[in-house]
Amino acid sequence: MNGAIVKLPDGLMSDLNNADRVLVLTGAGMSAESGVPTFRDAQKGLWAKHRPEDLATPQAFKRNPQMVWDWYEDRRRNIVKVSPHAGHAALVVMEQYFERLVVVTQNVDSLHQLAGSTDVVELHGNIMRSICSETGKLIDEQWLRSQSSHPPASPHHPDGLARPGVVWFGESLPQIAMDRAMAEASSCDVCFSIGTSTLVQPAASLPFLALNAGATVIEINPTPTSLSREAHYSLQSTAATALTAIAEHLTA
Ligand code: OAD
Repeated sequence: MNGAIVKLPDGLMSDLNNADRVLVLTGAGMSAESGVPTFRDAQKGLWAKHRPEDLATPQAFKRNPQMVWDWYEDRRRNIVKVSPHAGHAALVVMEQYFERLVVVTQNVDSLHQLAGSTDVVELHGNIMRSICSETGKLIDEQWLRSQSSHPPASPHHPDGLARPGVVWFGESLPQIAMDRAMAEASSCDVCFSIGTSTLVQPAASLPFLALNAGATVIEINPTPTSLSREAHYSLQSTAATALTAIAEHLTA
């Protein structure tokens, strides 16, 4: 345990104890304590070092596929070295206290699944998958690893290249995932918003949708966001510290 203590505001645990359906929206801050850099944290955030338009758009990939491919390969190499933290584990424990707990993540690192969360919706794809740049079809990773060129040509289309299976700026989110996220946001009793700057749409609208649908909204973020004043509870804490405290109260 990281030893940091968080005092849970009065009312939070009783709202949770009365809940059946829980939505947990997560962003890069949820993976920070596992050692995955966030995007917008000053200096150490990925977008503090690189321009998103140079690396996370289809146009950037067209302009310079090798640079984009190598940057994602670098992130992949870092991600396979890290493990879920106590906050991920706490969400797995919390699952058994509710009729339904759905994790809707903007993260592409599989850490929720690795921790054992059983119901995870990926809004921005997954960095461990590769797809064809022309057809969007999944490319077999084993085949891909046997190819020498970076990025390899796509096996699905003569003009296609293999590209990371993530959602880039200007691209639409997977419809099934977004429909599920919207349905959960408008029917949950409690909505957590954890480790997200609440800046990137459409994910950033989910906690507000839940709020308007009458759900209790709980934010966990060391830094205030545009949601902080609207949320019923805004815990200025890290994901591991706050989720561990909440799971301990639930299991007590
Ligand atoms: P950001 O980097 O914008 O925000 C991360 C948030 O996590 C910040 O508000 C931090 O204060 C907070 N944070 C940092 N450490 C934390 C910790 N230990 N516990 C809890 N919170 C912590 O990342 P996202 O909001 O996820 O999309 O960014 C959304 C999207 O923008 C990403 O999915 C990615 C990015 O560009 C695409 O590339 C399409």
